[in-house]
Amino acid sequence: MNYIVGMLTIVTLISDRGSNFEAIVKTAQNEQWPVRFAGVIANHLTAKGLDFARSQGIPTYVIEHLGHPTRESFDAALIEQIDALGADLVVLAGFMRILTPGFIRHFAGRLINIHPALLPAFPGLHTHKRALEAGVTEHGATVHFVTEGVDEGPIICQGTVPVHKDDDVEALAARVLAIEHQIYPRAVKWFLDGRLRIEGNQVKLQPPESQLFKL
Ligand code: GRF
Repeated sequence: MNYIVGMLTIVTLISDRGSNFEAIVKTAQNEQWPVRFAGVIANHLTAKGLDFARSQGIPTYVIEHLGHPTRESFDAALIEQIDALGADLVVLAGFMRILTPGFIRHFAGRLINIHPALLPAFPGLHTHKRALEAGVTEHGATVHFVTEGVDEGPIICQGTVPVHKDDDVEALAARVLAIEHQIYPRAVKWFLDGRLRIEGNQVKLQPPESQLFKL
């Protein structure tokens, strides 16, 4: 990947709440990033995050996967919309659809995701429940480039939180979400600043600084 500088364009995909998207936009505003949020695309008309986008004057789009006969045709519609918006970076923020290899290849090196676990532990769904069942003492979240394996791909940064003895899924999820809201904006900013280089399955941050955050 090359270094990229200047005003870049972000397109975000959400499925519902959109709190990570909100954290990124608010951090960008507070820190006055030179960035354009060109649009938010949801796969549900009812995605709550669309309201926040509208409140910020960010264009919203709904492409319902149920309206498409195949994953490929849904993803083709997504690609068309994202490309029309001129995305330099595609941010998956709670987008609960598995993307086709064609989609992932199209956006290779400029497609990132946040996963609510310390990958490679607990890929897939129900991460907090599985972490509690496994008895881990530390849990967290991972921002990574998206590659064809689900919840794989070069890790940009991770944030850890302690697991408390009396945690239930809700308590742990809330603690992890708080660190998600810290690490996703940092990862996006690093991308915008051209500081991320993919080498093999690793991300090298240039110049180096810790890619691990703790609550
Ligand atoms: C987050 O926990 C994220 O890690 C996962 O889905 C959740 C989305 O939350 N992929 P939000 O929509 O950003 O509030």
